[in-house]
Amino acid sequence: MCSGNFAKCLGITLIPLAIICILCNILLFFPSGKVADNSDDITDEVFYLGGILGSGVLMIFPALVFLGLKNNDCCGCCGNESCGKRFAMFGSIIFAALGAVGAGYSVIMSCVALNHGPKCFTTDNSVNATYPFMDGDYLSNRTLWDQCVGPSNIITWHLTLFSILLITGIVQIGLCAFQIINGLIGTICGDCCGCCAD
Ligand SMILES: *[C@@H]1O[C@H](CO)[C@@H](O)[C@H](O)[C@H]1NC(C)=O
Repeated sequence: MCSGNFAKCLGITLIPLAIICILCNILLFFPSGKVADNSDDITDEVFYLGGILGSGVLMIFPALVFLGLKNNDCCGCCGNESCGKRFAMFGSIIFAALGAVGAGYSVIMSCVALNHGPKCFTTDNSVNATYPFMDGDYLSNRTLWDQCVGPSNIITWHLTLFSILLITGIVQIGLCAFQIINGLIGTICGDCCGCCAD
């Protein structure tokens, strides 16, 4: 197995996933796809930026590091030609851990948001959007959805985008965990593709 190539595959996969998360978070700033009259009408968890910072920006660094592992110049380190590459693989473990923490943050925020439900306009409060649901009760009882009178389809919007963030975040954690194992193997064994050959 070639750990550098494997890391490159992980890096290539992580970039579109990070972009998906950034886009989902941005879309959540527009309840039901519309510009909110007041920022108080936007669900609080959107401002915690789980998708933009956690699964997005924090994930770009590990992705770029993984992509670069294949091309690390490893010649001449303490007379051991694979030592530089091993060090790069070791460094990637730290970046993989950073990525896992970022994605973990996004996953936790998505769970909180899914449980909390969206802010929406209800019949008894027409001035500002509020949280009509408690303890995730709306997830199992669609009758409660009638309490949200606007913006239209806000619950579907909220559920869809935060679910994408949740699932993508879990996949990102899995990929980073793979790279932690791959990085350990690469650190211990060196990159089996051989030094300076590629
Ligand atoms: C769903 O919510 C409605 C409105 O509060 C309530 O009357 C009904 O009993 C609930 N249904 C279930 C299955 O919990």
